[in-house]
Amino acid sequence: MHNIKDKQLIKHFSYINGSWHSSETNIDVLNPATGELVASVSNAGVVETEMAVKAAKKALKAWSNKPANERAKLMRTWFDLMMANQDDLGRILTLEQGKPLAEAKGEIAYGAAFIEWFAEEGKRVYGDTIPAPANDKRIIVIKQPIGVVAAITPWNFPNAMIARKAAAALAAGCTFVVRPATQTPLSALAMAELAERAGIPAGVFNVVVGSDAKAMGKVLTEHPDVAKFTFTGSTAVGKALISQCASTVKKVSMELGGNAPFIVFDDADIDAAVRGALASKYRNAGQTCVCTNRIFVQQGVLTEFTEKFVKAVQTLSVGNGLSAGVTIGPMISVEAVTEVANLVEKSVQAGAKVVLGGQQGCDSTSANQNFYQPTVLTSVTNDMPIAQNEIFGPVSPIIAFEEEAQAISMANDTEFGLAAYFYARDIGRIWRVAEGLEYGMVGINEGIISNAAAPFGGVKQSGNGREGSKYGLDDYLEIKYLCMGGLDK
Ligand code: SIN
Repeated sequence: MHNIKDKQLIKHFSYINGSWHSSETNIDVLNPATGELVASVSNAGVVETEMAVKAAKKALKAWSNKPANERAKLMRTWFDLMMANQDDLGRILTLEQGKPLAEAKGEIAYGAAFIEWFAEEGKRVYGDTIPAPANDKRIIVIKQPIGVVAAITPWNFPNAMIARKAAAALAAGCTFVVRPATQTPLSALAMAELAERAGIPAGVFNVVVGSDAKAMGKVLTEHPDVAKFTFTGSTAVGKALISQCASTVKKVSMELGGNAPFIVFDDADIDAAVRGALASKYRNAGQTCVCTNRIFVQQGVLTEFTEKFVKAVQTLSVGNGLSAGVTIGPMISVEAVTEVANLVEKSVQAGAKVVLGGQQGCDSTSANQNFYQPTVLTSVTNDMPIAQNEIFGPVSPIIAFEEEAQAISMANDTEFGLAAYFYARDIGRIWRVAEGLEYGMVGINEGIISNAAAPFGGVKQSGNGREGSKYGLDDYLEIKYLCMGGLDK
C-alpha cells in the first residue's frame, strides 16, 4: 500500500495487554484527499476498553517498580524504532489524516522526540528534604507514579498527541490506555506495534479503537482504576469529560481549543513576520490548536504586511499530501470545510473582504470537497465570527489596530488562552506585550513554538496541565510527604 515498506505496521485490531483484539464490526479509515479506503479496523467498545484498563492496572506494579533507567532503555528503543520507520509512519499518517508527507514525517520526529525526552527526564524525578519545625523530625518529599492513565487523542496529530502523553506517563512509571480518534487509528496502532517490538511489557501501552466515543469515554473517565485522565480536543468536549472525572476525583490535564492572536507591530521585521504567520497559520491546513487565528497588524505596516503576506500565501500548493510539492493537504472532512466556509461567509456579510481564496475544492481538476483554498480576509474586526471562533482551517483574517494597548486588549478578548505570537523589535514593548498576553505560550518573533523541551499548555478555557518539558512529568506524579519523627535521643 502506497510504498509502505514494512506492511506489519498496518494493524487492524486494538492492542490490549500485548495482543491484538478483533471485534465483530469494523471502522473504515478513509483517505481525506481521495475518499478511498485506506484500511478497516475492528470496532472495539466498552468491553475492550474495560479490558485495557484492567490490563494497565495489572501491569502497573511491575512497570512502576522498574528502575527509571530500565524504563528509559525500553523507551529509547521505542524512539529508535519510530525514527527508523519514519518514512512508513509518515506515509500512514498522510494516508489517514491528509497532511503533506514532509509535514507527516515531521510529526513522527516531533512525536518521537517526546519519547526520547521523557526517557531521559524520567531518571530525574527528584524528591526533597525540607527543614522541619522541630529537631526530632525530618520532612521528606518523594514523587510516585499516579497510576493508570487514560487518554483520548485527536485526529489532527495522530502520532504526536499520543506520544506526548504516553511518553510522560511511561517515564513516570504509569501505565497507559488511549482511545485515538476513529478517523486516524492507524498511526496509533503502528505505535503500538513498535512499542511491542521495543519490548515495552504487555499492558503498559494499550490502544483501543472504537466509534462509540461516549461509552468508551465514560469508561475512561469514570473507571475507579484510572487515576488520571488526559485529553486533547475541543473545549466543549473537554468540559464534559472533566465533569465525568469528578465522580472519582481524577487528576485531569486538558489541552483544549485556542484562538491565537498573531500581532505585527510597526517596529517588526515584516519579512520575518510574514514567514512566521505563514508557518503558524497554514501548518496542517490550519488544523492545530496553536494555529494563528487572528492577525492583528499595526496601521503603519498594514499595507506592506498584507501585500507580502498575500504573495506568500499564493505560493502554497494545495493537493494530495503524497504528491510532490504539496504544502496544504485536505481538511479532515467535508463537514469541517463547511464550518470554515460558513465562518467566512458570515464574516463577509459583516463587512470582511476576501482578497485570496475563499473557495472550497482542491483545483479545477478535482471534485473533492474536503479541500479549502488558503484564504486571506481583510477589513476584519475582532467581533466578527471569523475572529470570535476557532477557525481550524486555512483562513487568515487580518485586523488593523492603532495602539499597543489596543492590540493586547483585543488579543485577550477571548475565552481561550493557548498560544499567542507577536513580532516587534523594541525590547520594552517585547516585555510589556509578552507579560500582558493572557496565554500559556507566547511566540516572540517566532511562529513555530512546539517542541519536546518546552511546556505546552494553555490558560483560561484552553485547558490545564503542561505537556513536554520537565513540567510535563508533574501531571503523572503524586507528591508524597514523609514525616519522620522520634529522632530525639
Ligand atoms: C494541537 O493542535 O493540539 C497540538 C499542536 C502542537 O503540538 O503544536
